[in-house]
Amino acid sequence: MSLPAIRHYLQFSDFTADEYAYLFRRAALIKKKFKTYEKHHTLADRTLAMIFEKASTRTRVSFEAGMYQLGGSVVHLTTGDSQLGRAEPIEDSAKVISRMTDLVMIRTYEQEKIERFAANSRVPVINGLTNEFHPCQILADLFTYLEHRGLGADGTPDPEALRGKTVAWVGDGNNMANTWLQAAEILGFAVHVSTPSGYEVDQAVAGIRSGDSYKVFKDPMDACRDAHLVTTDVWTSMGYEAENEQRRQAFADWCVDEAMMAVAQPDALFMHCLPAHRGEEVTGDVIDGPQSVVWDEAENRMHVQKALMEYLLLGRIG
Ligand code: CP
Ligand code: NVA
Repeated sequence: MSLPAIRHYLQFSDFTADEYAYLFRRAALIKKKFKTYEKHHTLADRTLAMIFEKASTRTRVSFEAGMYQLGGSVVHLTTGDSQLGRAEPIEDSAKVISRMTDLVMIRTYEQEKIERFAANSRVPVINGLTNEFHPCQILADLFTYLEHRGLGADGTPDPEALRGKTVAWVGDGNNMANTWLQAAEILGFAVHVSTPSGYEVDQAVAGIRSGDSYKVFKDPMDACRDAHLVTTDVWTSMGYEAENEQRRQAFADWCVDEAMMAVAQPDALFMHCLPAHRGEEVTGDVIDGPQSVVWDEAENRMHVQKALMEYLLLGRIG
């Protein structure tokens, strides 16, 4: 039996600008329905399998609550409580899990692992974070930016508002940074990156075609200058805990503070995917201050992922 063509969402570059425009519009509608308690059961009787090989708060709650709100159900698996932790091959796990569910979300280590899972899956697979990418987070971040700074005449998020804008990335050249670089290439904005030496972004790992959409700065103040959005992330990502002490020393000057926000655009926003460490990558004054939109950003994970799950299973429906 031949398998139907399926789409996966393994990295930001899996979708086009036009698909993102649709997803942002759809997420805005879905959010409105959520806020007014309007029933929206587009995925009734569908099941999402969620596989976590790393810890999570936001990703789990947003996918789990989101799927129930769409009328579906979820199965939650971790390495510790499944055969994944006892060395069952990822290919075999994919074949089995995807025969019983309609959609799979995975949070794991190497990107290569999620690709192997997807290659053996009968159903769409979503990247819930790998060492290399975190596409669902950037989807939420962009939607949040547009809600605050890019609503079109009809009141819906207009990705054209991103064109020509500058995002300052301060910190590790990690999964979030790589995903920002992909988003910039697709949606036409610039990323100004400042990382400590030894933690630079790598264009090959980021999977971008050209270096035109990003610029590297030694001094984080220079990266933040005139930026429309300033963003950062933990100094030590999950899986790199053994480097914690060495990173604390290397990253000491990469803390987003009020001085950095002061050189950005006067109406610049601050974002952080969370969890945050006040006094390390960001000061309390900034993350809890008036330019910070981190709580909207976290909430929006759910709304954009509901749009994403619908899209992968049903295509364009609105
Ligand atoms: N931002 C994010 O992915 O958070 P969690 O690790 O809590 O899922
Ligand atoms: N870069 C962080 C993001 C956590 C949501 C990590 O990979 O741990």
